[in-house]
Amino acid sequence: MDEILLMLPGPTTVDPRVLTAMSKAVVNHRGAKYGEILTETTELMSKVFQTPNKSYLLTGSGTAAMEAAIANTVAPGEKMLNVVGGKFGERFMKIANAHGIDTQELSIEWGTAVTPKQIEETLDENEDIKAISVIHNETSTGVAAPIKEIGKVMKNYDALYIVDTVSSLGGDEVNVEKFGIDVCVTGSQKCLAAPPGMAAITLSDEAWKAVDSFDTNTFYLDMKAARKSGDKTPPETPYTPSVSLTYAMNEALKIVMEEGLENRVARHHKAAKASVAAVKALGLELFADEKVSSATVTAVKMPEGVSDADFRGTTRDKYSVELAGGQDHLKGNIFRIGHMGCISYKELVQTFAAIGMTLKGLGAIEDASAGVASITESYL
Ligand SMILES: Cc1ncc(COP(=O)(O)O)c(C=O)c1O
Repeated sequence: MDEILLMLPGPTTVDPRVLTAMSKAVVNHRGAKYGEILTETTELMSKVFQTPNKSYLLTGSGTAAMEAAIANTVAPGEKMLNVVGGKFGERFMKIANAHGIDTQELSIEWGTAVTPKQIEETLDENEDIKAISVIHNETSTGVAAPIKEIGKVMKNYDALYIVDTVSSLGGDEVNVEKFGIDVCVTGSQKCLAAPPGMAAITLSDEAWKAVDSFDTNTFYLDMKAARKSGDKTPPETPYTPSVSLTYAMNEALKIVMEEGLENRVARHHKAAKASVAAVKALGLELFADEKVSSATVTAVKMPEGVSDADFRGTTRDKYSVELAGGQDHLKGNIFRIGHMGCISYKELVQTFAAIGMTLKGLGAIEDASAGVASITESYL
């Protein structure tokens, strides 16, 4: 049985160097050795976020960092604007509701992106909004939001700018300082290509002022506690961290920096462009508006008469390529190709061969090889 190629929007294939790093002996998380690795890893994290501010690792998945971002900076009863154009925008909204925040939704049709103008207009009409949340890369729809341009708008308002880069950091352009992002969060298992289970967060001075202005109602994710432990010598985390995942993040971030952020982002954009062209070459339709389609995940409409179980079951069981399905109301209606992490033409050739052969086998297309031909042309 061939090894399954993960073409998911997370978890992604983990580099053997990272797996080897993880197998090192576990050390005391309250000792100097762990302090050293934690310092190095959080410094690397800040480099990847492109911020002069400190970053914090949280043992938990990306959602933990999403919750930390909101629960520490927006007090219960304060007003917050959440851009909702997919499952993860909805999640920010649900988290804010769970923490007693007065939420307002800026609803965007799934498959399209919010515009800076929409944010500007909403903030002008609602001067009491304390923070806004935006998903940079809406993984459920394959859409990238214009976080750089929104950042320009946000400079004119006091509201905090909270951005989820869980499925974009290390794959698309994210510059926390330049874009004026106040709180930025990410996860380990997507473009950073580490195993799942660790998340990261960084906060601006303005965001820390908000943190200090009230007592958060989260205990495990209390950022005041994270800051206090992080400021110790040697630095620590408030509760026992996953030591092995810290090693993994350390190695994964080194790999990112060795490739160089610009090169890595360019590689992801190339894979996205090649994937979009190959989807079209197969005669399939994109789900997302192509003008705002993601650099890390391509969402494709399921061809008429093809079931999700037959399609993804065959690509996985017969051709060893694991693709993602749709979520919520998109279940069965779309499939998603994650091209994040260690992705190049090799993985895309295998993926489009599997898609072409499967769809031909199911009688949905005539030419099984058009996708592969298109990928080779894109990479020539
Ligand atoms: C954009 C985005 N935000 C948040 C999350 C949640 O991350 P996790 O599943 O690691 O909790 C995901 C996961 O797919 C995501 O794609």
